[in-house]
Amino acid sequence: MLEEELSQFYITTPIYYVNARPHLGHSYSTMVADALVRLHRLEGEESFFVTGSDEHGDKIVQAAEKNGQKPQAFVDTISGLFQQLWPTLGIENYRFARTTNPEHEKIVQSLLQKVYDAGDIYFGSFSGHYCYGCERFYTEKELENGLCPQHLTKPELISENNYFFRMSKYLPWLKEYITSHPDFIRPERYRAEALGMLEVGALDDLCISRPKTRLTWGIELPFDSNYVCYVWFDALLTYISALGGPDGADFAKFWPGEHLVAKDILKPHAVFWPIMLKSMGLPLYKHLNVHGYWLSRDTKMSKSLGNIVEPKAMADKYGLDAFRYYLFREMHFGSDASFSEESLITRINADLSNDLGNLFSRVLSMMSRYFDATVPVPQAMNEDDQAIADHCVQAMQNFVTLFGGIRFSEALENLWEFVRALNKYVDSQAPWSLYKAGNTDRLATVMVTLLTGMRKIALCLVPVMPKASALMLSQLGEASETPSLFGDELQTFGVIPSGQKLARESNIFPRFEKPKEKAEAVDKKAEPKKEKSSEGKGSKGEVSIDAFAQLDIRVGTIENASRHPNADKILVLSINFGPLGVRQILSGLAEYYTPEALVNRQVCAILNLKPRKIRGLVSNGMVLTAEGEGGIVLLQPETTVPNGGAIA
Ligand code: MSP
Repeated sequence: MLEEELSQFYITTPIYYVNARPHLGHSYSTMVADALVRLHRLEGEESFFVTGSDEHGDKIVQAAEKNGQKPQAFVDTISGLFQQLWPTLGIENYRFARTTNPEHEKIVQSLLQKVYDAGDIYFGSFSGHYCYGCERFYTEKELENGLCPQHLTKPELISENNYFFRMSKYLPWLKEYITSHPDFIRPERYRAEALGMLEVGALDDLCISRPKTRLTWGIELPFDSNYVCYVWFDALLTYISALGGPDGADFAKFWPGEHLVAKDILKPHAVFWPIMLKSMGLPLYKHLNVHGYWLSRDTKMSKSLGNIVEPKAMADKYGLDAFRYYLFREMHFGSDASFSEESLITRINADLSNDLGNLFSRVLSMMSRYFDATVPVPQAMNEDDQAIADHCVQAMQNFVTLFGGIRFSEALENLWEFVRALNKYVDSQAPWSLYKAGNTDRLATVMVTLLTGMRKIALCLVPVMPKASALMLSQLGEASETPSLFGDELQTFGVIPSGQKLARESNIFPRFEKPKEKAEAVDKKAEPKKEKSSEGKGSKGEVSIDAFAQLDIRVGTIENASRHPNADKILVLSINFGPLGVRQILSGLAEYYTPEALVNRQVCAILNLKPRKIRGLVSNGMVLTAEGEGGIVLLQPETTVPNGGAIA
């Protein structure tokens, strides 16, 4: 490819404040940038991202004082923690920018001068409600009951002379721009929120200076040495100073880029930053991608509550790749997500150990037995194989589109449908029977179809689980330093090369036991045994065979599944029981299965229970489940049986 033909992808994370240690929230944004860059590299693009530390301002000075340190020593330490953390989370391909870097300071000063010369900065007197936590003034209208809406603290009323950026002049232009560019800020809810901010009319010109009498820890204004620059004006410019500023070669090559932030800093990115770019005569960024908050068990993470999730500890305990998978799968980009070790374990056990890990382990051990771990020559594909090939190409293409479009959770869910389809294909083709019958040609075709599909899955997972993907690829006999996912690789199924040597076994994702369950199990052992009762839980009293025979337990196929509109834990299932018709049954499976994952599965259910109403919807029966290590699992017949078949 010629140099000019290479396309570029540039993205930034927020430039994090160094007043506190990095935690799960910072790590998520940074992992997302890392994964997107990896995806774009897979697609053959030249790509990297910028992250860094925001080191000026009141907030930092206060944190340093609290710690008994000078600001510079303090920011060096905390910035160091961020810099050390990223490689341990598998994060690569980035530049780490610090706002105290002299190069950055020079670029900020030259851009301030440019805006000043253009007449967009003026000197005026001002009095406003200043929140130290947010590092900004609030107007009367923006306060909630007189308190800062973010920190719920009373801001300080400050009157002083300052420099102002003529933001109000550009507000109508910005409103028009956001309205006419529907995906400039995405997902949609944040675009609506940004438009709402412009609508309310609470935005004035932006105070962009702090008098040195109050704050010296900042970049001096080039046109008045009595003032330093407002920390946001300084920090936002990192996105272009990291490219060498508007005159830098990288700026010409990589700008405009993409931004990635959480909902807390929507306003500076959706309002201040585009207006700053416009005033400086620079092209606007491509998209502002806004995600929700990671909560710790539904509660905001905070030091005082002691519920901060340490990403490194989680990665060490559960494996970095599994942890990364969980974060991408669990958070619907844009919405808040709740972190808990239980849900992490459920995901690892269900998606990674059961679905993906099991596929690798069973196929590679069969390959070892049937073909001495060497890829055989396949014969012509039949309809079943072709269906797998078609599904694979569709799944890969959807994955790339969805993942690239920041719909990570959907992208993985879509890919997992294919993982599950491959597991089903193993069951339906029954390679062990082909082997027993000596049908080597057909066996070779089935195994090659499986291996080819597995290889494509591993390729798609490179951005999310870089190490595990590399391991999967190497178990499939491939050890490319620069895997790719474009051109023929993306358009066609192809076949894995014959003769390639495979690993003889695979155990990539170990299962985990839930800590709570362990504790409960111990507690239960310690409890004195209760009188047995037929209603009690645990081991139950004897019943006659006649009593058991009264239960009508049948096999059916789930035709439809959806979430209960009023109960988070419950799924509403439509199950086809053949001659007995289709029934609606409610089941508490929502924590363990997505609705999509259940469609077409056969299950066992008791049909003659009295109908029950759960939060407004009727359940006509009960689906049978068992308590697995990672949570609830469905009871399924070993092979497909006719719907409506009785269980005895
Ligand atoms: N310094 C500013 C950003 C300047 S950008 C020019 C700042 N820093 S911050 O340290 O507070 O980082 C905020 C960002 O950290 C969020 O936008 C998000 O990317 C990440 N997160 C911090 N806590 C978070 C969660 N609980 N959940 C998800 N991400 C959050 O604001």
